Amino acid sequence: MRHFLVFSLMAFFFTAILLLGCSSSEKSENSESSGSADAASMQLIILGGPGAGKGTQARAIVDTFKIGHISTGKILRQEVADSTELGMLVAGIMARGELVADSIILTLVENRLKAPDCKDGFILDGFPRTIPQATGLEGILERRGDTSIRVLYLEVSDEEMTRRLMSRGRADDTEETIKNRIGIFHQQTDPLVEYYDKKGTLIRINGEQSIEAVAADIEAVLSGK
Ligand code: AP5
Repeated sequence: MRHFLVFSLMAFFFTAILLLGCSSSEKSENSESSGSADAASMQLIILGGPGAGKGTQARAIVDTFKIGHISTGKILRQEVADSTELGMLVAGIMARGELVADSIILTLVENRLKAPDCKDGFILDGFPRTIPQATGLEGILERRGDTSIRVLYLEVSDEEMTRRLMSRGRADDTEETIKNRIGIFHQQTDPLVEYYDKKGTLIRINGEQSIEAVAADIEAVLSGK
């Protein structure tokens, strides 16, 4: 009888140890797959200065991969055009080429990401632009349950960005505003390049080529060619 009891106790502890081992290895696999930049993930940021071609390339990516396109500049321009309370608040800031407050932008992005077109992926165009926006985005992604992100960085010289914007002619494409936007880009957004580089999620793209050549480089990276 004593032998039977000792044997039963040993069997119980052995089974318990096995079960605990399985559940902890399952946990670590799950956290790895949701926390790291998954090769197949279509959660993207397109980063670059004013006129680098973010909008142009984001539209091509959306057409190819059927994911949501979130352009914070476009959302804000619509608010201004509709003369909403937010539009009236940001109109002057945008006309001067300055940045809208991080808290406003983070709320806009979190709400926009709830739309059905972002369910299977999205590209963020013009966001994040500051380190607090980047860390705010990490919180948003955690709440959504998938923190993987890849950052496409379009490298273009100031001279080329200025040339492109001067020949486009949007309301904020005046000589003075372009100069201000490029200055603010280097001051506030340049640090993001280093931030994402250190995380290993930055993909550098030569944005100085033709639109088609840039698109081909991006497509090769995204389809793993
Ligand atoms: P936003 O709309 O994001 O403006 P931006 O960053 O200045 O960028 P652009 O839209 O001017 O350029 P792009 O890189 O998209 O280039 P595009 O493809 O259009 O923001 C506007 C304002 O909103 C900000 O200044 C700020 O006030 C506010 N804002 C927005 N987001 C914010 C945020 N997160 N936080 C705070 N404030 C925010 O191309 C430009 C031109 O070049 C086009 O004519 C195009 O045809 C041409 N082109 C593109 N690629 C090429 C190429 N490879 N070769 C030749 N021409 C090209």
